[in-house]
Amino acid sequence: MSGTENRNDPLIDVRENGPYLVQGPLTFRDAQGNEQTIDRPWVALCRCGHSQKKPFCDGTHSSQNFQAEKGEFYKP
Ligand code: FES
Repeated sequence: MSGTENRNDPLIDVRENGPYLVQGPLTFRDAQGNEQTIDRPWVALCRCGHSQKKPFCDGTHSSQNFQAEKGEFYKP
């Protein structure tokens, strides 16, 4: 799947050497319990650890040449 279709159920799309694209109705809750509803069909969450806008991806993974490990899917 390529990442930006409208869905009614959440989906996490792992991008190669990039962020997690999260699709679906989204509400974020911070450590203090404050909630923010995201009025977008998807958001990109940082996977590399270098974003200055965590938890969101700001594109820094590209300049940091982030390389994800292969085969990183583990069943919870
Ligand atoms: S994954 Fe994009 S800045 Fe971290």
